[in-house]
Amino acid sequence: MKRVISTMGFVAIAAWFAVPTAATAAEESIGNIVNGRIIYQNGKGDDVPACAGCHQVDGLGNDEVGSPRLAYQVDSYILKQLQDFAEDKRTDDTMYQMNDIAKALTLQEKKDLAAYVHTLKTPYIGSNLDQLRRDGADVGDPHLGKMIAEYGAPDHGVPACKSCHGFHGRSAGRMYPAIGGQNYVYLKHELESFRNGANTSAADIASGDKEDNARTNDYMAQMRAVARNLTDEDIANVAAFLTLARPTTPGNPRSPSRH
Ligand code: HEC
Ligand code: HEC
Repeated sequence: MKRVISTMGFVAIAAWFAVPTAATAAEESIGNIVNGRIIYQNGKGDDVPACAGCHQVDGLGNDEVGSPRLAYQVDSYILKQLQDFAEDKRTDDTMYQMNDIAKALTLQEKKDLAAYVHTLKTPYIGSNLDQLRRDGADVGDPHLGKMIAEYGAPDHGVPACKSCHGFHGRSAGRMYPAIGGQNYVYLKHELESFRNGANTSAADIASGDKEDNARTNDYMAQMRAVARNLTDEDIANVAAFLTLARPTTPGNPRSPSRH
């Protein structure tokens, strides 16, 4: 009897350790990775250009065209963005292509693409801030940005970014995108867009009468509530910190215990 109990104990422990593997399989099963890669690298017909043309083959994106890093981004978040572009809930006011591209993709193709970009494990390089400074961009101070990411700015109503983005993209947190290692130009632009979105009335959002650079597709206006109180300096500082953030930083889906 004692032997049976200890065997059962072992099985229970083995099952517990097996959980991360099962979760990984579930994450990757939302789409067909092979089909996602084909569309990503080659596009589809006349309507969908290759994603790699703007987001790069490695998924790192490009500060020069303002495109985001997609590599290893939370797949369910990617899928939601493609749906939001397709339904005009979010506007690409940088190159004005994402809405048309997303409309030309079927739901299954969106899932395939989300699954594929999630498998791209390009190292977190982030933006070259020195180069951006040389190019005349307004670049903030990463040290000041780290304080906002970790503690927020309580004196003017900004919560810590890690309180939501620190779920590592897993479990209940799969609606929160990874923001560490994201490109500087894109981060700054999105934070400004959410802040513009916070200043857009609900009536204007409902009637579609909003500026292109006002992002209002965040569930329950969570990000707008955060961005509303960010100053220009806060945005430059936190974007400078986040772009240099390493994989172990809160907000990245790649946690040291899993890889
Ligand atoms: C012509 C350039 C271009 C092409 C081609 C392109 N993208 Fe984009 N994409 C962008 C830009 C620019 C943005 C940022 C939009 C904004 O400013 O809000 C973006 C944003 C996105 C986002 C939002 C990411 C986030 O972090 O919220 C996703 C997802 C995305 N693209 C997926 C794709 C996929 C999949 C394809 C191919 C089917 C593709 N893109 C093709 C330029 C492009
Ligand atoms: C209350 C929860 C919450 C907090 C706190 C929060 N965020 Fe977010 N954030 C979200 C959600 C939810 C989204 C996804 C919106 C969507 O679905 O399009 C998001 C999206 C973003 C994006 C867009 C990412 C992309 O790829 O387009 C950026 C950038 C961002 N947050 C930065 C920050 C920063 C910087 C802070 C701290 C100053 C912060 N967030 C604090 C909930 C939060």
